[in-house]
Amino acid sequence: MGVRILGVGAYVPDRVLTNFDLEKMVETSDEWIVERTGIRERRIASEDQATSDLAYEATLRVLDRTGMTPEDLDMIIVGTATPDMPFPATACLLQARLGIKGRPCFDLEAACPGFIYALEVARGLLSIDDTYRHVLVVGAETLTKITDFTDRNTCVLFGDGAGAAILTKDDSDRGILSAYLGGDGTLADLLYLPAGGSRRPASIETIQNREHFLKMKGREVFKYAVYGMQESVVRALELAGVKPEEVDWLVPHQANLRIIDATAKRIHLPMEKVYVNIDRYGNTSAASIPIALAEMEDRGLLKPGQIVVLVAFGAGFTWGAIVLRW
Ligand code: ACO
Repeated sequence: MGVRILGVGAYVPDRVLTNFDLEKMVETSDEWIVERTGIRERRIASEDQATSDLAYEATLRVLDRTGMTPEDLDMIIVGTATPDMPFPATACLLQARLGIKGRPCFDLEAACPGFIYALEVARGLLSIDDTYRHVLVVGAETLTKITDFTDRNTCVLFGDGAGAAILTKDDSDRGILSAYLGGDGTLADLLYLPAGGSRRPASIETIQNREHFLKMKGREVFKYAVYGMQESVVRALELAGVKPEEVDWLVPHQANLRIIDATAKRIHLPMEKVYVNIDRYGNTSAASIPIALAEMEDRGLLKPGQIVVLVAFGAGFTWGAIVLRW
């Protein structure tokens, strides 16, 4: 018995922040941002919107598309690096909003590959436990809440959004064919949020030092990201026994158009087979892949039987790819 994605849904906040808006905030230019990243605009959550609010909207959309109700969901996993609060889990807050008390719910923190890691965990649980029939997997982020809008090195990159998928058991040939996951904690200090955890609890000093905003050594992260994305795709395809020329869609995490280009080149995939929406949303971390899948569904791009490869790389470092037959 396999496991497949039954449906996807996504939500992004209404507020748009363009590169031209950023030009008024820091010393940057639309030209620099587009050339270096491919990003033109991103969505920004409102002050009263937290990650669970975005996750809830995305969940309503996937329920609508699949004709399911919250009661059909046996478990909730939320991939996020920007939870509403350290605890309880954002998944618990989402469960309460959905009114399905009693169902297990937890967050999974694997930064940008959070959705891919969560899919693989959900697949494992569906495979070994008969009591679960449908698992809700959400990638949701409000990265702009931990973005320093005085730091031009990072503030041009990130955006907010959420995507949700319902996974189910399936005895056809559709579904997840392989997953390859990896990590390297020795490189943690290249991309991290210094304060607010047990290492550097919040204090006047951490606030004054702007330590509650993410820090990134962009150039170094770039190098590892290219390698991590490329290797993940190659390894996942090998595990699935799928040749690169059989791939119909590559749906990469949207961190930088140059990283996406390099990943496609590694398996000689033409860019027409690569889904890109970074121009409109920037880097939405764990939300970027399910947002892309939902858009592709909306546009009728995903057809049953197609080979789809999901791949991501992020803080940790963590990385991973999933090959599936849609
Ligand atoms: N506008 C104008 N100039 C800028 C800007 C900006 N917004 N940001 C940086 N610069 C300047 C730098 O100061 C530097 O100037 P200098 O040469 O005088 O020092 C110059 O531009 C080049 O800077 P680089 O950092 O070398 O630029 P690079 O081409 O590497 O692009 C970028 C930077 C876009 C951040 C890139 O390195 C990148 O995408 N890195 C990977 C990001 C990523 O994949 N993150 C992982 C996932 S995120 C997550 O897990 C949450």
